[in-house]
Amino acid sequence: CGIVGYTGLNYQSAPILLKGLEKLEYRGYDSAGIYVPDTKDQLNQLVKEKGRVAELENLVAKSDVEGTSGIAHTRWATHGVPSVENAHPQVSADGRFYLVHNGVIENYLALKHQYLEDVPFVSDTDTEVAVQLIAKFVAEGLTTFDALRKMTSLLADNSAFGFLLMDAEDPDTLYVAKRKSPLLIGLGEDFNVVTSDAIAMLDQTHDFIELLDDEVAKITPDTVKLYDAQGKLEHREPFHIDIDASEADKGTYDYYMLKEIDEQPVVIRHLLDKYFDDAGKILLGDQLLADIQAADRLYIVAAGTSYHAGLVGARMLEQWAGLPTEVHVASEFAYDQPLLSQKPFFIFLSQSGETADSREVLQNINRAGFKSLTLTNVSNSTLWREATYALPLMAGPEIAVASTKAYVAQVTLEAILAYALSSRLDLDLEKELSRIAIEIQAIVDDKLTFKRVAEELLVNSQSAFYIGRGVDADVALEAALKLKEISYVQAEGFAAGELKHGTLALIEDGTPVITLLTQPKTAGLVRGNIAETQARGADTFTIATKSLATDGDGYVLPDVDPLLAPLLTVVPTQLLAYYTSLGRGLDVDHPRNLAKSVTVQ
Ligand code: G6P
Repeated sequence: CGIVGYTGLNYQSAPILLKGLEKLEYRGYDSAGIYVPDTKDQLNQLVKEKGRVAELENLVAKSDVEGTSGIAHTRWATHGVPSVENAHPQVSADGRFYLVHNGVIENYLALKHQYLEDVPFVSDTDTEVAVQLIAKFVAEGLTTFDALRKMTSLLADNSAFGFLLMDAEDPDTLYVAKRKSPLLIGLGEDFNVVTSDAIAMLDQTHDFIELLDDEVAKITPDTVKLYDAQGKLEHREPFHIDIDASEADKGTYDYYMLKEIDEQPVVIRHLLDKYFDDAGKILLGDQLLADIQAADRLYIVAAGTSYHAGLVGARMLEQWAGLPTEVHVASEFAYDQPLLSQKPFFIFLSQSGETADSREVLQNINRAGFKSLTLTNVSNSTLWREATYALPLMAGPEIAVASTKAYVAQVTLEAILAYALSSRLDLDLEKELSRIAIEIQAIVDDKLTFKRVAEELLVNSQSAFYIGRGVDADVALEAALKLKEISYVQAEGFAAGELKHGTLALIEDGTPVITLLTQPKTAGLVRGNIAETQARGADTFTIATKSLATDGDGYVLPDVDPLLAPLLTVVPTQLLAYYTSLGRGLDVDHPRNLAKSVTVQ
């Protein structure tokens, strides 16, 4: 879910809040709402709608919302179906308190029974319990600020929250509290803002103060007061974000996803600029490299597409640098931790730096005193701050829910890291990566080829298979995920040799089988696997590197160092997913049921 708040003296808040919500839609978009207190006419304007932010905007336009402060929210449902009642802001029964919330309150039912038996409820949300508790504590004599603190003190330790509260009787003040879910306070002249992601408020300010877990703040147009968990006033310097608001715009593209696919050559160039000096020396920090070298085993932890990037990175770290490396899905590792080696070192991969599953692991390993490195696209994000080391992915804001350029950035940075830890002399990585950037440009320039293939092979299919061996199997997983998430075609990625052990039963006349074929040592075997699917009627399309390609192949890529092949092969699979989604008439950037950054477990 996404949160924005504004309190100022001179400007109408509603347009600022709605524009902010549009930027936050990547965090969920099944319902949205806004609350603006109207100081002039003493009206409390609350507008909520099911569906996308655009639908909320239509309603707000009709209702003449006026006022210079307010809060707004876009939701990804956790408790309660997407509906107007369950949308935020949630309101206390006395109509005085308005609350938006990211996260999950684990003990909300117990609190409801214990404190609120007589209070009428209109929603199924845990958030309504929180706002009713605040109203109750204020009715009992606490100030709004103390009521917020008391409410948060009752929440189970494993709850996650970013709360933004308004009191209709004090319409210039925003109250915030946070644990696990990210929240930032943005600073302006005669106004201040609150947001769950800086990107939503870059049109207003570039200076932000981050809230740490269990902190609470009280914000007016010209003051920000930050308190620690014990209620002690704190001071924290703001940090400056120097990305341009326009980097998060679609420009002339219909969808962010295609823009982000097209940006991939530039992303690699940014990484080369950042991590190689003029003499070609890698700049990652000597202490970081020494700490990794000192470990006896590396553990890569991630979710979704980042996990798939981790699979590739592990092969590089093992095969280039000789470091034993395991890759784990964060949500599994968090609660079923494998036996660790004597001296483990952890690498977290995360586009957003906020994924709750990964953070759970990071907190556990921090408690155990182990060292870690986060590779993330968002500097100052939670996983950035809480790891021992952090390196930026330099991909620029990634807005489409389906991750593309962040994957390429992760694999590239993993390659730089593995290379720095290796003593490979046969590869000039900087040169190879700049050549790859040029080759990716050639693939994206050829996008209409993949539009045609998508239309012929995938748009009208019920299912599809991606196969390959080695890193090609890793990319097959990512390719299948990309197709599933934005086109809803049932897709599976498979180690090609494993297909015959069961899944081959699903291949029938016309089933699309897309093969990635870049690994010289297994090319012959993969050819055999393709033939096995063809013999069962599969409609095959093969993406092969030049020296392994044969006449019937669908697309030929240039030869490349085998472990860097994912940087090339993933691009056609991204384009295939994009054009399949488009061909099926879907909203490419906003697949159903998903959110880009998942801050709940
Ligand atoms: C969500 C997104 C995925 C992403 C995953 C991990 O599920 O929809 O695209 O790969 O989270 O996110 P992270 O920000 O940690 O890379």
